[in-house]
Amino acid sequence: MADDQDPVIRVRGLKNSFGDQVVHEGLDLDVRRGEILGVVGGSGTGKSVLMRSIIGLQVPDAGEVLVFGEPTVDREESETLDIRKRWGVLFQGGALFSTLTVAENVQVPLKEFYPELPLSLLDEIASYKVVMTGLPADAGPKFPAELSGGMKKRAGLARALALDPELLFLDEPTAGLDPIGAAAFDELTKSLQKTLGLTVFLITHDLDTLYAICDRVAVLADKKVIAVGTIDELLALDHPWIEEYFKGPRGRAAVATQDAHKTQAHEKAEA
Ligand SMILES: Nc1ncnc2c1ncn2[C@@H]1O[C@H](COP(=O)(O)OP(=O)(O)O)[C@@H](O)[C@H]1O
Ligand SMILES: [Mg+2]
Repeated sequence: MADDQDPVIRVRGLKNSFGDQVVHEGLDLDVRRGEILGVVGGSGTGKSVLMRSIIGLQVPDAGEVLVFGEPTVDREESETLDIRKRWGVLFQGGALFSTLTVAENVQVPLKEFYPELPLSLLDEIASYKVVMTGLPADAGPKFPAELSGGMKKRAGLARALALDPELLFLDEPTAGLDPIGAAAFDELTKSLQKTLGLTVFLITHDLDTLYAICDRVAVLADKKVIAVGTIDELLALDHPWIEEYFKGPRGRAAVATQDAHKTQAHEKAEA
C-alpha cells in the first residue's frame, strides 16, 4: 500500500527513444505529495514526452513509473482506470474540442469515467468547474472560438479538474498568454492547489511561473533530470545551463517581477 510519505509520482531508469533519437535515458524523478513541481528544459528535451510516459500514453523502452504507487507503464486501459480517475491533464496547446461548448468539453472526462451520470448532474458539475476556474458563469454554453486565449486555458483547466483529481498535469499552461494573463493563471493554479490539496506536475518555459508558484523545480537536460530542488538550491549547484537559465536576462526579469509583487503585497498589507 502507498502511504502519505511515498512520492505521488516515482520515475526510475526511464528510457524513451524515437528511432535513433534517444530522448531520455536513465531518467529518475520523484514528485512529492502536495507540491507544485516545475519541470524545465530546453525545447525538445522531452518534457512533454516525460509527461506522456508518466500518464501511460507513451510506452517507454525501459524504466519504471509509479503513480500513487501503481505502475502505469505498458498497462491495459482497464487496469489503470482507477488511477486515471485521480489525475487531470492539460495538454500542451490545451486543445478543447472545437465543436463542443465549454460545458460539454468539461463533461467529456465525466462521461468517459462515469457514463451513468444523469445529464442534470453533468450540467451541474460542469457549471461548478467553469466558475471554479474563474470563468464567467455564462461561458458554459460558449464555443471555444468565442473565448479569449486566457479563457480557453481556464476552460482546459476546468476540464482537467472535472473528476476532482488529486494530481494535475499542466504542460506549458501559460504559453501564448500575455504577462498579465499568465500571472493570473499562475495565481489560479496556486489557489486551486492550496484549496484542493493538489499535487501539480507543471511543465513551463515561464520563469515568472517558476518563481511565483513552484515549490521545487526539476531540470531536464542531457536526457535526464540533472537536478531538482528549490531555485536557490539549483543556483547553488553552479551548473552552467542552470546558471544561464535563471541568471540570464529573462531570469533577472523574473526576479524583478517577483520583487515588484512582493513590494506590492507588502504595501497592501501595511495599508
Ligand atoms: N511521437 C513522436 N514521434 C517522433 N518523435 C517524437 C514524438 N514525440 C516527441 N518526439 C521527439 O522527442 C523530442 C522531445 O519532444 P517533446 O517531449 O515534445 O519536447 P519538449 O521538451 O519541447 O516538450 C523531440 O525531439 C521530438 O521531436
Ligand atoms: Mg512540450
